[in-house]
Amino acid sequence: MIKGKDVAYAAQCLKSGELVAFPTETVYGLGADAFNARAVAKVFEVKQRPKFDPLIVHISSIDQIEELFLQPIDEKVYRLAEAFWPGPLTIVFNRSAIVPDIVSSGLPTVAVRMPSHPLAVELIRLAGTPLVAPSANRFGKLSPTQASHVEKQLDGPAYLLDGGSTDYGVESTVVLITKKGVKILRPGAVTAEELATHVKVLSHKNEFDELNVPSPGMLKSHYAPRKPLYIIDKPSELNYVESDGIIIASEQDRNLYSVGRVKALSKSGNLQEIAVNLFAVLHQMEDDDEVEDIYIEAIKEEGVGMAVMDRIRKAAYSYQK
Ligand code: TXA
Ligand code: MG
Repeated sequence: MIKGKDVAYAAQCLKSGELVAFPTETVYGLGADAFNARAVAKVFEVKQRPKFDPLIVHISSIDQIEELFLQPIDEKVYRLAEAFWPGPLTIVFNRSAIVPDIVSSGLPTVAVRMPSHPLAVELIRLAGTPLVAPSANRFGKLSPTQASHVEKQLDGPAYLLDGGSTDYGVESTVVLITKKGVKILRPGAVTAEELATHVKVLSHKNEFDELNVPSPGMLKSHYAPRKPLYIIDKPSELNYVESDGIIIASEQDRNLYSVGRVKALSKSGNLQEIAVNLFAVLHQMEDDDEVEDIYIEAIKEEGVGMAVMDRIRKAAYSYQK
């Protein structure tokens, strides 16, 4: 895989049906022409992703929703697009006939987002087509927030567009548009509180039970490092850590631990900073030969902390004691 900053070349690769890994403001994506079903099939192969897990279509201009979504388009789609695009919000709405089945795993809906990262926008524009782009990792593994994380996990993209570290560090928030309001299918970089200032966010189970929507990608285990990961709910209850264990915690909590080495997740304890560093620190610990077991402090579940704890729980799922 060639790595560099040549957006024009990357766009050329996409036009000829190849895959390109590229940075977005959330995580790196594995891109392909959304209208080329054969290229989209390669995305599933390279990621080893099950075909039942649909992809997000990335656009560079708002007009592109007119052809992707089925008419009439709900007014809430425009309201959210106006408020959060370009940016880390993915909107799920009924799909038009132009969207290949493989993109949506045969669902009647399609997920669309307009990223804000300048390289992503330029790439979509030059490719002249919307791009599918799941996170550029192996299915179920740690998400990539740096170009090196992509190189570590994937072999298959024709080109890797290097844009350094991503700004948010967690994926976009995925919302489903319904008549009554929106349902958060995946917590992400846009918080529930921010969404609620623009639309009704359905929160009680009975409000969306009747919809019976499959949330195909919402598996219990996901984003997992190759080493055992355990969640620390109360620092005081952790009274033994093996010499090859590591504790991931905020700098300010360092003194709460009487055992084990501590790797700082953030200096300030600020939730945005924690989100930005989460996957990078987990990648580092996964690659460190001197680390065997990873312990990570639970994060406050408010704001972007919802998305961070969602990722941590899924990453630790297979290792719950
Ligand atoms: O921040 C992001 O969203 C990144 C960057 C690269 O844009 N992309 C990303 O894609 O996280 P991926 O494939 O790793 O996650 C997409 C999520 C999955 O949970 C998938 O099931 C859900 O979006 N999704 C996609 N289409 C859907 C649909 N039609 N209905 C319900 N969920 C959908
Ligand atoms: Mg992913």
